[in-house]
Amino acid sequence: MVRSVISILDLSVEEINKLLDRADDIIANPAKYSEVCRGKKLATLFFEPSTRTRLSFEAAMYELGGHVLGFSDAGSSSATKGESVADTTKMVSCYADIIAMRHPKEGAPLVSSMHSSIPVINAGDGGHNHPTQTLTDLLTIRRKKGRLNNFTIGFCGDLKFGRTVHSLIQALSRYAGIKIVLISPDELKLPSYVKKDVLQKQGIEYVQTTDLEEVLPELDVLYMTRVQKERFLSEEEYIRLRDSYILTRAKLVKNAKEDLIVLHPLPRVNEISTDVDDDPRACYFEQALCGKYVRMSLIMELLGLNAD
Ligand code: CP
Repeated sequence: MVRSVISILDLSVEEINKLLDRADDIIANPAKYSEVCRGKKLATLFFEPSTRTRLSFEAAMYELGGHVLGFSDAGSSSATKGESVADTTKMVSCYADIIAMRHPKEGAPLVSSMHSSIPVINAGDGGHNHPTQTLTDLLTIRRKKGRLNNFTIGFCGDLKFGRTVHSLIQALSRYAGIKIVLISPDELKLPSYVKKDVLQKQGIEYVQTTDLEEVLPELDVLYMTRVQKERFLSEEEYIRLRDSYILTRAKLVKNAKEDLIVLHPLPRVNEISTDVDDDPRACYFEQALCGKYVRMSLIMELLGLNAD
């Protein structure tokens, strides 16, 4: 059976560290990697909107010397005629060497991987998981902090539907000395399955609060998130909750450590004021760039390719 990455837990800590090491090497020596995927094709099957994930996957494959095919809108695929994810995958396996799939339904990339003769990468499934965003986040933290252990990270915003939060918590729970502060309105708390199956099972120290400003001074990393409009059943409820937290430069200056790093998987709506962008603690645009390099590294790994 071919190797796919559906959850960040599909990768061991050793494998993650190796992927990040190679991403660092790609950043330092891009020319070394420019022909590694010559003749290989990546299929980007995006049944749900994306800017960063799809384009960084595509840029990653181009920078490795490979080709890209696919669709960015389920409406332009035969899914609209009723084709199943399984059948779409079987077809695409005939045309490409590796698949990156985003889907609004939790578990769709897993189903795809079960019917695929080529590796499938989960590029985000509903409110569930987003493992390549997690690799992006880990690379950014490691490059900024020099380590992936012994720090306090605050997750702020929509912790219920925020798949990037669920995946990053899964990943960080395997590193030592991580303390987690969960900052959200009561309605958008981290799902209990993540608390039970990850935080409590692994004995991770965590607290829950609704007050960002109170906990800001303790944090080494602040992971802001957007309230996920597309997952709400009620527009009224979304409007009531969407501006629960707005990080401003004034709040950072007053309350945050000098060496805090502020991350956000993006897209941003209102939760980080644009006046934060010029603060040296704002790392979210560099984070998006890291996404391209970790995806290059992961594509190489799953295709069994080396630059040496
Ligand atoms: N971070 C992220 O998944 O962004 P996109 O939705 O633009 O891909």
